[in-house]
Amino acid sequence: MIEPHGSTTLDARYVKDEQARKALAAEADRLPSLLLNSAAAANAVMLGAGYFNPLKGYQDLADALAIAERMSTADGLFWPVPILNLTQDISGIEPGERVALRDPNLPGNPVIAVQTVDKIERVDSAALAKIVQGVFGTSDPAHPGVATFNSHGRVLLSGPIEVLHFSYFEKEFPDTFRTAWQIREAIAARNWKTVVAFQTRNPMHRAHEELCKMAKAAVNADGVLIHMLLGKLKTGDIPAPVRDAAIRKMVELYFEPNTVMITGYGFDMLYAGPREAVLHAVFRQNSGCTHFIVGRDHAGVGSYYGPFDAQAIFHDKVPAGVLKIKIFEADNTAYSRKLQRVVMMRDAPDHTAEDFVQLSGTKVRDMLAAGQDLPVEFARPEVAAILREYYQSQDN
Ligand code: ADX
Repeated sequence: MIEPHGSTTLDARYVKDEQARKALAAEADRLPSLLLNSAAAANAVMLGAGYFNPLKGYQDLADALAIAERMSTADGLFWPVPILNLTQDISGIEPGERVALRDPNLPGNPVIAVQTVDKIERVDSAALAKIVQGVFGTSDPAHPGVATFNSHGRVLLSGPIEVLHFSYFEKEFPDTFRTAWQIREAIAARNWKTVVAFQTRNPMHRAHEELCKMAKAAVNADGVLIHMLLGKLKTGDIPAPVRDAAIRKMVELYFEPNTVMITGYGFDMLYAGPREAVLHAVFRQNSGCTHFIVGRDHAGVGSYYGPFDAQAIFHDKVPAGVLKIKIFEADNTAYSRKLQRVVMMRDAPDHTAEDFVQLSGTKVRDMLAAGQDLPVEFARPEVAAILREYYQSQDN
């Protein structure tokens, strides 16, 4: 199977041995504690699940700056987005100490991980601006990822962590949340050799369905891993349980049996476009996938990124050979009225925009909220029905 990023075996920071986990939880009760922000808690989940292999914990300021500037840690590991524990208040915590990290997303804020604090560093405005610009390509506070990042505080706690649980993801998404090692095991159990991963934070319409099928056929894959984001999103994005139900219905009705695994990961969306696409590729490699689909405006928001910037970064900024996973670059995909099937636009050079069935996100939302049907060329009716029910249950 494809090797994880940066090491030969996967080092998940979750403490798998039950006795050791109990001992760690008991130790945590006696330690000073820190309430994490949601992003730092999501980082703990990702580190625990092995997705961020080979990182052992939260990165320091030198790494954050080096990654922002050149996608490499200070000591040369290729890495696209700093994995940080930024906080406002560290009263009572000293370097060298162990700290119980509390989960902001569960009632009672139980300890999610224990960190050995290597360094406590204050991030000044200039350093913060460099990190934001490097990761998001903009410093606009209206960018949802930038706004969230800027709210995290200026004190950086770096150091390795040991993880006790996977926050709300295991309980809320028992059938969908999977760790990287569980996905590797599932791939091995199915004897899949070539696996295409599809990232999504949206319900899947015809274009997404066909994109997966086209990628699978193009690389002659044994299967597709649909790997959906289960963490926090900006207002207006569709909640994970609704997306999950819609995706499951689509796969059940429209894919050949045993060719798709539906899974999810516990991370908050960054909306960092190209940099997030590279992070996405890294953690699909860690999950055992050989190929990763990057289409139009991958992980984008608004008009901050060009539609294919998230593909260009793999050519322009990712040194050859540092990633073993291969990128399947998808062109804008839509239903062609002329050909009466979904196609990538590059494969229909004679078409004009009017030859394609395309709907904006806003249009789709408005139609569903008004109880209307979506064109069958755009969305599977069974998928549209699930989304319509959701929108109509909202106060619109
Ligand atoms: S993302 O933020 O997770 O990237 P989304 O769930 O909308 O958003 O997209 C999932 C994947 O499908 C991304 O790789 C994206 O580039 C691709 N994609 C979505 N819609 C299209 C489309 N119409 N044409 C080509 N690629 C698309």
